[in-house]
Amino acid sequence: MIAYKGDILYTPTPDCFEVFEDGYVLVENGKVVQVSGSLPSEYADVEVIDRSGRLIIPGFNDLHIHAPQYPLAGLGFDYELLPWLENYTFKTEAKYADLDVADHWYRLFVTKLWQVGTLRFSAFATLHNESTLRLMQLCQESGLRPVVGKVNMDRNSPADLVESTEESLRGTQDLIERSKTLTPDIGFIVTPRFVPSTTPELMTGLGELVERYQLPVQSHLDENRSEVEWVRQLHPDVPSYAEVYEHYGLMPENRTIMAHCIWLSEREKALLKDRGVWLAHCAQSNLDLTSGIMPARRNLEYGLKLSIASDVAGGHEPSMNRNIVMAIEASKAKTFEAGYEGDRPLTLPEAFHMATKAGGSFFGKVGSFEPSYEFDALVVREGESLLDLSVEERLERFIYMGDDRDIEERYVAGRLINRPFQH
Ligand code: GUN
Ligand code: FE
Repeated sequence: MIAYKGDILYTPTPDCFEVFEDGYVLVENGKVVQVSGSLPSEYADVEVIDRSGRLIIPGFNDLHIHAPQYPLAGLGFDYELLPWLENYTFKTEAKYADLDVADHWYRLFVTKLWQVGTLRFSAFATLHNESTLRLMQLCQESGLRPVVGKVNMDRNSPADLVESTEESLRGTQDLIERSKTLTPDIGFIVTPRFVPSTTPELMTGLGELVERYQLPVQSHLDENRSEVEWVRQLHPDVPSYAEVYEHYGLMPENRTIMAHCIWLSEREKALLKDRGVWLAHCAQSNLDLTSGIMPARRNLEYGLKLSIASDVAGGHEPSMNRNIVMAIEASKAKTFEAGYEGDRPLTLPEAFHMATKAGGSFFGKVGSFEPSYEFDALVVREGESLLDLSVEERLERFIYMGDDRDIEERYVAGRLINRPFQH
């Protein structure tokens, strides 16, 4: 048993912060036993890690990020989605055919996520098998605990970034098998890029792999109006974009992440709710690529599961601090833009909950400090202040104004994770 002492703050529910000023988190075998304001007498002899004066908060979880696109962050945002993919994204991803390129850039990517305190994430790699395995190995070595997917694409893609249906399925199955032993802590997630880049045959085969191996799925949904229209033309017999994934077995219950979900129809909302899909809300990306603004408040009220994600490099900043702020700002803008001025914008505890516990729930008991949760934590030392700030206000200032330089320590499942690849 170890006790971590500091100013502890987390969100068991979205409506408010649970705060223990100068409190203790008791951790055993990597899991939280209890949090309390003083050290319980029965634990008087345990080792105390004293982080007095620092915030101790759950680590961040990013449910949608493109690892190979990190070198592209901040480029091409005068384009909308489809020309951005053609002009920048596909050209970038094609370079990961070279394992040396992949090794170099994936090290920088993993290090960046460590730096900004994103301890768990769901990543798209590229369609290249060896590069994808390398990303998984680097993640395993780092101590971070993401899930990673080889991207499947067998149509409507450039010649240097496309596979045959058979190659795509064979490569996916091969990686599922090899990663089980080579990267035991890194889950594999089935990753059709989006409907326009996967044939019905490929989606059918992927659906079979999902069923056989009981795997999770991630993809894109209702991001951009030209994309939605393209899907309608490709699948005129299916009533909605979401139902294409469902039809091919690519929406397993409580194991699916769909990014963006800006332009959902009522049918789609009902389906996503029924399947317990995590909606990865990527507010920065949605503004960078002029995709739209998700009606986050209305989706929450409908009962959809929303998490906050970066979508790097559709979004330009991996930092969840920045993406939490963008989600709040976008929800404020939405109230004006959509004539929803009676809607309450997202609050800080709600957005923090979306970036910690809501996203973390994809990985199990992750993202909170309730008993039996994995101890995924950041120790944060923010700067001095003129006012006498409460713990909540210090957290607010860290989210809005702080950055990775304020993060002193990162713990994943109770293990201190040092900067990766230092040897
Ligand atoms: N839709 C299909 N591919 C992509 C991608 O790489 N990024 C984003 N934001 N949307 C996509
Ligand atoms: Fe994306």
